Amino acid sequence: MINKENNRILELRKLIHRYNYEYYVNSSSSISDFEFDLLLKELEDLESQFPELNDPNSPTKRVGGDITKSFETVNHQYPMLSLANSYSKEDIIDFDTRIRKIIDVPFSYICELKYDGVAISLVYENGQLLRAVTRGDGIQGEEVSNNVRTISSIPLILSGNPPKKLEVRGEIMFSKAAFLKLNNQRKKEELPLFSNPRNTASGTLKLQDSSLVAQRDLDCFLYAAFLENSAIEKVFDHYQFLTDLGFKTPSKEKKYIQQVSDVNGIMNFIKFWDKKRDNLPFEIDGIVIKVNEISLQNEIGNTSKSPRWAIAYKYKATQVTTHLENIIYQVGRTGAITPVAVLKPVEISGTIVRRASVHNADQIEKLDLRLNDVVYVEKGGEIIPKITAVDLSKRKKDSIPFNFIERCPECDSELERDQGEAHHYCLNNNSCPPQIKGKITHFIGRKKMNIEGIGEETIEQLFNAGLINNIADLYSLKKEKMLPLERMAEKSVDNILIGIENSKTAPFHKILFGLGIRYVGETVAKKLTSVYSHINDLR
Ligand code: IVH
Repeated sequence: MINKENNRILELRKLIHRYNYEYYVNSSSSISDFEFDLLLKELEDLESQFPELNDPNSPTKRVGGDITKSFETVNHQYPMLSLANSYSKEDIIDFDTRIRKIIDVPFSYICELKYDGVAISLVYENGQLLRAVTRGDGIQGEEVSNNVRTISSIPLILSGNPPKKLEVRGEIMFSKAAFLKLNNQRKKEELPLFSNPRNTASGTLKLQDSSLVAQRDLDCFLYAAFLENSAIEKVFDHYQFLTDLGFKTPSKEKKYIQQVSDVNGIMNFIKFWDKKRDNLPFEIDGIVIKVNEISLQNEIGNTSKSPRWAIAYKYKATQVTTHLENIIYQVGRTGAITPVAVLKPVEISGTIVRRASVHNADQIEKLDLRLNDVVYVEKGGEIIPKITAVDLSKRKKDSIPFNFIERCPECDSELERDQGEAHHYCLNNNSCPPQIKGKITHFIGRKKMNIEGIGEETIEQLFNAGLINNIADLYSLKKEKMLPLERMAEKSVDNILIGIENSKTAPFHKILFGLGIRYVGETVAKKLTSVYSHINDLR
């Protein structure tokens, strides 16, 4: 019996691997999503019936589920070096001159994009993914295989004629679209947003629960292969070889890689992508230039830190200057005051920027920001642009430093700042309007009381009409008081009241989370209520 099931399992794995490859590497598909899901479901069922037939590279591992309690430290067979940086044509000329001093035969360069993610080493044996290891300190990294197995563009089993042993290196990252999607999802779930794709990719690789990794749509771009006794002569041909094994490799049609013969060729590639990089579907922070011939790479060799046969050309973060028109202060629901710079609108890589974050009082002081200063604004990996410096040569003589406000801009209470705290706080928690409205908005949110029918606007309206002044007031709202308000039809009032009524059955941890006590987020609320089942005990 088990033989028959075994064969079907092997057959299903093979089929699903092939469809995955078609879909994620070739962007094509010969079956419908529905048919695909059926096959996957059949395989999942069989695997759970026959756990003895488990395979770490089964396509079911794509959806994750394996938990890694602690990531094991693993030695890299070949150290994971970094790249020397360059910033100008002169630097590139120096690099080229150094190479030409060592080799006197004709050679070429390969120019590639410098993907802005985290490095990964993938080791395959007999065509099977054996392990995936982070860079770590370059000598030792951490094994994150369970998480990496969920990344659709990384083959678990190689096609064609894979060598007995193969190590490839690449960069794991988010496409711009996947990162946006992730943050949109987090917004819906009222979780803090991630600020840049690179750090998020790095954090995601270290999640313990691989099914969470599977939901995040990471991608991988390859940039190196280690092949023993290989006849392949050029980096460029490595990529063809890797394509044949089922890897996703940089497209030469899209000019992601290009072979050139000299500094001019390199500079053209650099200029081309400096103009076009905003249109790429993923983030790059520069260009990588490598000697294309592998035998020459070996001849040129490495320093202890980086190869002498390659160099990174780093693009400057896009920076512009504009006038600082004002600093305004926002009051959050906890009373934290956040300063925001108001800028004369300016375009940075295709988007108009009107605001920049300045974080807190220390930052204002450190940058010595003053009204009407000309400031440098930079949009790096971060989503919200930031002010990096003041152009002091353009400062007006009579300018005076910004003094951080001492009173709440909304309720005029005196602000406080505890030692070691980055933020100033308004402590008038119960009567400062944005705090009241913010607390109620927080309370009704999806992961808290999940009260349908009410949104931020309704809260604003009910607050302005004097019908709610705190969370408890929601529960004594009266239909007849609400109906006279603008846009409050009978049906929407009923919906609101039903939503509020239903929320009375919410579990304790959601209520506690909903109260918006500083330091009591979802996790802490769950922990507390698992020990204290009644609010009086907790008190
Ligand atoms: S080649 C010996 N090529 O940049 C190092 N690296 O700053 C060989 N990176 O650790 C690296 N894109 O994680 C290479 N096309 C590319 C790359 C690339 C991104 C990363 C890589 C490396 C870091 C060095």
